[in-house]
Amino acid sequence: MKFIAFNVRQDEQPYFENWSRQNQIEVKLVADALTAASLKQVDGYDGVLALQTGSYPAAMFEHFKRCGVKVFAIRNVGTDNIDLAAAKANGVLVTNVPAYSPNAIAEFSVTQLMQLLRNTTIFRQKIAEQDFRWAPHVGKELRSLTVGVIGTGRIGRAAIDIYRGFGAKVIAYDLYPNPQLQAEGIYVDSYDELFAQADVITLHMPATAADRHLIGEKAFAKMKAGVYLINTARGTLIDTKALLAALKSGKVAGAALDTYENESALFNHDLRGQEIKDPLFKELMQQQNVLITPHIAFYTTTAVENMVLISLNSAKSVCEKGTADTVVKIR
Ligand code: COI
Repeated sequence: MKFIAFNVRQDEQPYFENWSRQNQIEVKLVADALTAASLKQVDGYDGVLALQTGSYPAAMFEHFKRCGVKVFAIRNVGTDNIDLAAAKANGVLVTNVPAYSPNAIAEFSVTQLMQLLRNTTIFRQKIAEQDFRWAPHVGKELRSLTVGVIGTGRIGRAAIDIYRGFGAKVIAYDLYPNPQLQAEGIYVDSYDELFAQADVITLHMPATAADRHLIGEKAFAKMKAGVYLINTARGTLIDTKALLAALKSGKVAGAALDTYENESALFNHDLRGQEIKDPLFKELMQQQNVLITPHIAFYTTTAVENMVLISLNSAKSVCEKGTADTVVKIR
């Protein structure tokens, strides 16, 4: 049995190398992404590891079948960008890492909200200009706010716990409610109800084609004036154009975006000294009340270690037993 891993960063390397040594299984580490151009490199390997940040079309799974790759193990949660039907049709099992560290993402969401509520970016700029006055940037306390959590899987639930710790009132919406939270009466019955009540809206749901631009013009119209929006989930959930309009009109007081709908050409790339070719993103970057981060909510030592080890163990399990706990169910 031998594996090949793509998109491997320096911070992941020691975890790969230790696992490989301990399990006596060869793992070839490749820094480049898995693309049509690098696909040939998988020949001769039983398992391929990658990150969801790329796109994995049918042609890739057809190639896997031809060269005997049994398992495609992604080192993250989301399976968007993967042609799962093609994986199934070509007999390749896909595994993910459903819970590498829900807290990593939940904590980051709250961190970003706190920065918006207390205007820390604005104060940092003011201090750089030696303007040490307070007004007019008075902050808000979480215990005076209603936080609307959309998506109550592991990450949403971790966020709910943290928000409750700060004394916020938390409401939630999920197409598939969690029975324990339901018993606690946290759920509202619709997106519209959540939009109408929440001072803060935080997204913790996967992206599906049906949810593309869920947060768009119509949704903004139903929200409270001065709402805060936090997205550490997927960029496609927000219509960026509509968000810019809502920020300019003051409907949205601030937004923290760790994901962006056209992020793949930007995030985790070194574009220093280069012109940003995406005008929408450029405009977003110019907004004082928008915090942009390059999809780093997951990026903690705990999460990185778990992502590497769990994905490797999944690939090994598929090769040895024909299945793993983390096999993605494909309908
Ligand atoms: C995920 O786990 O789905 C993430 O968004 C993390 C990222 C490295 C792809």
